[in-house]
Amino acid sequence: MIISVVGMGYVGLVTGACLASFGHKVFCYDRDPAKIESLKKKIVPVYEKGMKELVEANVDSGQLLFTSSPNPAFRISDVIIIAVGTPALKTGEPDLSSFFSATRQIGESLDPERFTVVVTKSTVPVGTWSKLASILGSQRGGHSHFGVVSNPEFLREGNALWDTVYPDRIVIGACCQRSVKVIRDLYRPIIEQSFGNLPGIPPRPGHLKRVELIVTTPVNAEMIKYAANVFLATKISLINEIANICERVGADVTVVSRGVGLDHRIGPEFLKAGIGWGGSCFGKDLASILHTAGKYGYFPQIIDAAVQVNTRQRQKIVLDLEDLLGDLGGRTIGILGLSFKPNTNDLRDAPSLDIISGLLEKGAVVKVYDPVAMDECKRQHPELTVTYEYSAIKAASNADALVIVTEWEEFRNLDLKQLKGVMKQAVIVDGRNIFAPRAIRKEGFIYKGIGRPDK
Ligand code: UDX
Repeated sequence: MIISVVGMGYVGLVTGACLASFGHKVFCYDRDPAKIESLKKKIVPVYEKGMKELVEANVDSGQLLFTSSPNPAFRISDVIIIAVGTPALKTGEPDLSSFFSATRQIGESLDPERFTVVVTKSTVPVGTWSKLASILGSQRGGHSHFGVVSNPEFLREGNALWDTVYPDRIVIGACCQRSVKVIRDLYRPIIEQSFGNLPGIPPRPGHLKRVELIVTTPVNAEMIKYAANVFLATKISLINEIANICERVGADVTVVSRGVGLDHRIGPEFLKAGIGWGGSCFGKDLASILHTAGKYGYFPQIIDAAVQVNTRQRQKIVLDLEDLLGDLGGRTIGILGLSFKPNTNDLRDAPSLDIISGLLEKGAVVKVYDPVAMDECKRQHPELTVTYEYSAIKAASNADALVIVTEWEEFRNLDLKQLKGVMKQAVIVDGRNIFAPRAIRKEGFIYKGIGRPDK
């Protein structure tokens, strides 16, 4: 099949590279010519496991092409996938300007002699599919030569390729049976798991024989995406609430979480208490669904509470430091980790940013270290008056306390004796519960985890 992918952000690039591996011819389009030029040179703009190998292999085989002009790619495509960004506006609503400008560009280019399926992968408010269909329809004078499909992605950064080729499910929200058939063919290698090893992606997990396909209406598909992220984010906020109670009653949330997660109705994942969730999806999607519900005159209390608990969880770190050190004015605090989670340099909605701002407001001196996200942080947040250090030990040197913000593997393996030797006071606030309390206290540290007893 011939495919076009519009928008070379994270989702677009991953989708394009994976589909090209299945033998489809994939044209990747972005309106930013500089991005396309560097992709043509196989320079991958995101830090993602395996991505460089996969892109290189598919560019070399001629299956993956990058272009900064929509034509002829759109005109000759069987499927056009929209994967442009939909960042949140101040109101909580996503900004759909790029989405609708891509839609109009597609409408102008469709070949009336060819049936093309236009697929929405960008996360868009529930109901957007009908606006997409009417824009395309009005531009082309009818619906007969195109179909509209809502096909949400559920990929996690850092596991994006794996999640794309070995997904838990594929959701197809389609306007007509003809479109379902096309998209089923597009994803057949994934549904049937009929492909061999792919460059940059580990082999298929043994249990995976076939991927579940949900064929439904576009509005259901749009809602599934929001509902999934609401569930995951709320699950984390809920375990963080449990953690806050654990702290007060002297229980350990890591044990409690293991105990409840073994109940198969609950499940063990997304039950790690900590400083709360961040990233490009959860905050944006919860704000968007709150906004949509509000438009229909409904206030979803639990979703609102999940957001509030998350905000409070970030502020809690500053309060914990005040409990341990008193006034933070003039105190030196080392921060380990900037990215919203390990194995990415993504700083979107990263808890680190709020924690650092909170500390600076209190007059603390802040030193930070992150294995990959420091350049991004310097570039995006020049307002943060912190010192960037080039190792965890340097960030800890002379510090009154050290805060674990992102659970990078290298922080788990820190030499505790060396760490204690360089700090002014051996105080650790472990926002990700990476250390064993007893062992670290034995080394002479004052240790505060999240939802764990103080002694
Ligand atoms: C998420 C969803 O998982 C994915 O399906 C969706 O398409 C996009 O949003 P991602 O943002 O890459 O993916 O990150 P994820 O691994 O889900 O983690 C999100 C945040 O939750 C991170 O800040 C992480 O640290 C936090 N988290 C996750 C916890 O605090 N506890 C957990 O148990 C799990």
